[in-house]
Amino acid sequence: MRNELHWRSKITVKTETRSIAIRKLSLADIPEMLMVEKLAWPDSKQQFSKENFKSQLRIFSNGCFGIYVDGKLAGMLNGLILSKSVFFKKDYSWYSLTDNGNFKSHNGKGKIFFVGSLSVNPAYQGLGLGKLLLEKAKSFVISNRLESVMLGSRIPDYKKFKSRYTPIQYLNKYKKHELSDWLLRFYENAKFKPKSVIPNYFYDPDSSNAGVLMIWDNKDSK
Ligand SMILES: CC(C)(COP(=O)(O)OP(=O)(O)OC[C@H]1O[C@@H](n2cnc3c(N)ncnc32)[C@H](O)[C@@H]1OP(=O)(O)O)[C@@H](O)C(=O)NCCC(=O)NCCS
Repeated sequence: MRNELHWRSKITVKTETRSIAIRKLSLADIPEMLMVEKLAWPDSKQQFSKENFKSQLRIFSNGCFGIYVDGKLAGMLNGLILSKSVFFKKDYSWYSLTDNGNFKSHNGKGKIFFVGSLSVNPAYQGLGLGKLLLEKAKSFVISNRLESVMLGSRIPDYKKFKSRYTPIQYLNKYKKHELSDWLLRFYENAKFKPKSVIPNYFYDPDSSNAGVLMIWDNKDSK
């Protein structure tokens, strides 16, 4: 793996200029990571634990990035490398792909950078930090000559339609622009493409536990 360079920039929010930096996370960051995690994921069944973070950082800290606003951790993207073949299995889930969030499923010979979690502290949401973290994942894939970034998106707006459509029908309607889902749109704005529904992907009542496999292909960057 090549050494990831730190990335720095500035954004202006309501006339205040804030300094933004993305850097690799390390074990010393765990207390701050837990704070962001609890705020971004209020339901404790969806949160990474201290043990999860420890394991992730021991196994593959190269795939864990924090975004800092004026020196404070505001969000993070935690990923691991997987081989394509794990996506050919019929019944995979977030739990099997990420080894229940511990990342022991990481396979350094694989070609897919899989985003196990993307979280921004609600106090900093809507500033473009989530998008910057996705850009970081893409540049990680480019600099390490991997094939793609993949992730399973929740479908939070499905809750309004669940009495009418199955998740597959919902995704088909979304693709035909017959309904909208803010999180799928967020990923599409970052040039990820929705592929297919993953039933029983991740505990998320709004999504009826379904996820949508989203892919950004490195070849599309050329
Ligand atoms: C998803 C998440 C990481 C986005 O982070 P962010 O820093 O707010 O992302 P950005 O500012 O780059 O873009 C967010 C976009 O989503 C929109 N958005 C955010 N929350 C929304 C909501 N509840 N309803 C509708 N739109 C929403 C914003 O308006 C913005 O759209 P725009 O670019 O057209 O203005 C953040 O909302 C989060 O941490 N959510 C909780 C955890 C989660 O769901 N993670 C993703 C799991 S698949």
